[in-house]
Parts: sequence; structure tokens; C-alpha cells
Amino acid sequence: MKRLEGRTALVTGAARGIGAATARRLASEGARIVVGDLLDELGAKTAAEIKDAGAQAEYLCMDVTREADWSAACQMAQSRFGGLDILVNNAGVVFPASIDETSLDDWRRTHAVNVEGVFLGIRTCTPLLKEGGRRWPGGAAIVNLSSVAGLVGSPRMPAYSASKGAVRLLSKSVALEFGQKKYPIRINSVHPGVVDTDMGQIVVDLVKKRSVTDEAAARALLVALHPIGRLGKPEDIANAIVFLCSDDAAFITGSELVVDGGYTAQ
Ligand SMILES: NC(=O)c1ccc[n+]([C@@H]2O[C@H](COP(=O)([O-])OP(=O)(O)OC[C@H]3O[C@@H](n4cnc5c(N)ncnc54)[C@H](O)[C@@H]3O)[C@@H](O)[C@H]2O)c1
Repeated sequence: MKRLEGRTALVTGAARGIGAATARRLASEGARIVVGDLLDELGAKTAAEIKDAGAQAEYLCMDVTREADWSAACQMAQSRFGGLDILVNNAGVVFPASIDETSLDDWRRTHAVNVEGVFLGIRTCTPLLKEGGRRWPGGAAIVNLSSVAGLVGSPRMPAYSASKGAVRLLSKSVALEFGQKKYPIRINSVHPGVVDTDMGQIVVDLVKKRSVTDEAAARALLVALHPIGRLGKPEDIANAIVFLCSDDAAFITGSELVVDGGYTAQ
């Protein structure tokens, strides 16, 4: 039997990048997937790929900053797949800028998606996850995407860093509350290093601009920050998320799983 057979997962920001890789890996372990995103074409493609591989998936156009969209996501999980066992709060945005160039609008946009989106997701999905979690030895699981930027400072990303730091402690606070209330839901944060996705390219472009250099040299500068000798792949992060969602992680809650090729070890 596959590790996540019989479970339903909602992954936000699953149209591309880490979210799409996570949706595919969860499905390969037997989970049914609600693919949530704003990018309809890519989101539908992710869902179609999962179905072509023999698993079940539905795309839902959802904006994580809208409460009504979270209710719709829960309704879809309930009506289409009979409940919810896993929530991966992956949707995220970054608008790099120095502190003096960060507009209040960009600060608010960043926090609306990266922090309020996670808060709304946890709050809206908890009733379904409570029910789902009673069926599994390791309970239901919430995984929140933070970043190395939520652990150590990242220059020229004040709004992003603040938002990812908030995700880290939001996760711990709720883990303690769920433990006290005996809810069968574990909640953890994941902290990737630089991963080769559209968002990763924004980081490469930032280094290019800051160091006045070309693509290859900018990538080499970023690789040098990762002792393992390369940037992350979406699948590296997806594998860690699948572990946290599985019963193999039954005793893990309120923790931060760093998946950064050694970035923060130095
Ligand atoms: N790529 C990296 O280097 C890196 C490093 C550390 C952490 N992360 C985090 O991992 C997560 C995924 O990053 P990625 O690299 O795959 O990024 P990405 O930009 O490739 O994908 C992000 C996805 O989120 C979706 N999204 C954005 N705003 C949304 C909203 N309001 N509602 C619904 N969906 C929305 C986008 O449409 C996109 O499909 C993010 O939370 C990011 O902060 C990424």
C-alpha cells in the first residue's frame, strides 16, 4: 500500500514550481489532490498530468487571500473526495527591493499572500482536517512553506523575510494549540534554500542586478551559498513535504524542516 493511499490533499500554488512537484509526489504516494492556484492553464495542466499518471486530481481557481475561495476549496475536497487529510500552504510571492524602495502596497501584498493566506488556510481547513486526522496513526498534516529567509536575514527582501519568519512562528503557535486541544493535526514549516523555479529565477535576477553580472555568474554566486554544490530542485522540497505529511512523521509537530543544501549550516 502506498504511504498516502486514501488521503486527500489540498496544495496551494500548485500550478507550477514547488507546489506542482509536491502535488505530483503526494499523488504518486496515493493521495487525491485539489490543485489550487490562480494560473488556470498551468493549474489545469498539473491536475491533468496527475490524472494521466493514474491518480485523482481536480484544479480549483483560488486566491489564498480570499476567505470565500478557501471555503470553496474545502467544499471541493469534501464533495469530490469525501474530506481533507493534508493541507500544503505553498502559494507565495516575492517582490525584492531594498527597505527604502519597498512600498507599503508591496509589503501588504507580500503579507496578504504569504502570511494571511496561510492563516486563512489553517483556520478554514481545521474542521475537515480534524475529522480526517482521526483516521490515520499520524493524524492529519499541515505543511507551511517558509524559507531560509525565515531563519536568517536575506538582504533586499525585507517584506519577504518578515513574512517567512511569521510563517515559522505561526506554525509553532498553532502546533502547540492543536496539541493542547488534542486535535489530530500536526503542523510544521519547511525552509528551502534557493530552488530552481520561477521564484528562484527572481532571486537569480536580483543577484544579476546587484552584482552587475550575467546569468551564469549570478547562478554561480548563488550555488556557492549552498555547500552541497547546486541549487534546489522542486522535487527536493516535495520529498521533504511528503515525509512530513506521512505517518513516518507521526511524532513531528511544531518543527522546522530545513531543506537548503547546507545554506544555513555555515
Ligand atoms: N524558489 C525558491 O527559491 C524558494 C525558496 C524558499 C521558499 N520558497 C517558497 O516556496 C513556495 C513555492 O515557491 P516556488 O518557487 O514554487 O514559486 P513559484 O512562483 O514558482 O510558484 C508560486 C505559485 O503560487 C501561486 N500563487 C501566488 N499567489 C497566489 C495566490 N494569491 N493564490 C493562489 N496561488 C498563488 C502562483 O500562481 C504560482 O503558481 C513559496 O511559498 C515560496 O516562498 C521558494
